[in-house]
Amino acid sequence: SLFAGQALAGDDQWLSPVYKEIFQNELPTPPTKEKKYSYYNSTTNRYIDYYEVDIKPFEQQVYKGLKPAQLVGYDGISPGPTFRMEKGREAIVRFVNHGEMDISVHLHGSYSRAPFDGWAEDVTKKNQYKDYYYPNRQAARTLWYHDHAIHHTAENAYFGMAGFYILHDPEEDKINLPAGDYDLPLSLAAKQYNSDGTLFSPADETVSLYGDVIHVNGQPWPYKKVEPRKYRLRFLDTSISRAFKLTFEDLKAKKLPFDVIASDAGLLTKPVQSDNLEISMAERWEVVIDFSQYKGQNVTLKNARDVQADEDYNSTDKVMQFVVGDTVTSDHGNGNLPGSLRNVPFPPSKTGVDRKFKFERQGGEWKVNGVTFADVNNRILAKPPRGAIEIWELENGGGGWSHPVHIHLVDFQIISRSGKRPVLNYEKEALKDVVLLGTSETVQVIARYAPWDGVYMFHCHNLIHEDHDMMAAFNVTSLADFGYPETTKFIDP
Ligand code: C2O
Ligand code: CU
Repeated sequence: SLFAGQALAGDDQWLSPVYKEIFQNELPTPPTKEKKYSYYNSTTNRYIDYYEVDIKPFEQQVYKGLKPAQLVGYDGISPGPTFRMEKGREAIVRFVNHGEMDISVHLHGSYSRAPFDGWAEDVTKKNQYKDYYYPNRQAARTLWYHDHAIHHTAENAYFGMAGFYILHDPEEDKINLPAGDYDLPLSLAAKQYNSDGTLFSPADETVSLYGDVIHVNGQPWPYKKVEPRKYRLRFLDTSISRAFKLTFEDLKAKKLPFDVIASDAGLLTKPVQSDNLEISMAERWEVVIDFSQYKGQNVTLKNARDVQADEDYNSTDKVMQFVVGDTVTSDHGNGNLPGSLRNVPFPPSKTGVDRKFKFERQGGEWKVNGVTFADVNNRILAKPPRGAIEIWELENGGGGWSHPVHIHLVDFQIISRSGKRPVLNYEKEALKDVVLLGTSETVQVIARYAPWDGVYMFHCHNLIHEDHDMMAAFNVTSLADFGYPETTKFIDP
């Protein structure tokens, strides 16, 4: 392109150097994280698995002939190593910081109790470590761990601090879904490079960083050899500001149908057929796709680029390619999907709106109900009693931006969305922890504020907005504070 490495007229965004190896490099698979040891906790009569992650710098040669990008990642790779956990088996993970920046680790999708939830100000400095405790008591789901350090989340996550954390359970294992080599975690990221090949920093951005180089598992526009059979694909969008609308297309640009089977919070009630998938920042959506009709052909994963009204680049219309071989080596998980997948524990329904939150830009800052996270005296915007079922109304205050809103601790059900975009068919069957507020949309979500008390964050997951400072907190308040006796320590959400 003419504009490669040049500032666009009237725009402070840059285009990356042209990437010449589209679909020529193989999809990387992050290694599985191995535990160091297990020990017996005689109080709970359970084993706890202990892991150690070393946060350290590494280089990635993205462009041949240019400089490598300087990154910092979990165990010196990005995505970080994949945790594969069994429900019911607790874990302690020590994160050792050998980078320059302060860090905080959030296990996104886990109801980790404070202070193990990655509170933004709970930073671990250079040459310090923190041990995080993860209960692993939720149903099988795809989680991810990423940085959450105050005002530097965008830089830290984008320069490498993000990885998969996959929770399995026996109920899900009973369903014969594609597993092993047929179960692929796919971490999407859109990045921007400088003309010398180094990674453009989001540090000075105050609005958004869309990125024109699409990565999957750290590799720009990779390919993956697959067998002509069914695959489970676990999509995660780790981008700073880019949402995707994904389609699988054959050589004639015919869109392949697939089944959406799981969301942020694990399996849907049933498989939902679709030929496109909307995924915004921090969301996880899982699909089962059948390549059996495409022996010896290529299937391209494309991005329709119409999810957000914001600026865009031509290079972002493709994501990766599946190169379909002609032999199937195993038929495990290759059968028909069951008509129903699980009883999703939706909260009991109720009427009325308990709280309203408006996400908008005011005076050059991103705010929730007029408050920034830096406003320490006002940032606790809600005190739900522990165990309460509440409906929160999340309103996009306008201005043409979209805001993927993430509420820590809980899984919620999307009960309504105003405007022309309805609640999507696969959203209806799902519990979620992120929901996209499209431009001028208002969304209602219902959740049980459990299982723990404590102070938790909620925020926009456009990481530039989050850092500047569209983040607030809620305090799940002990029932004792409302005059009820505390009977149990755990309220199952
Ligand atoms: Cu994925 Cu509060 O973050
Ligand atoms: Cu936002």
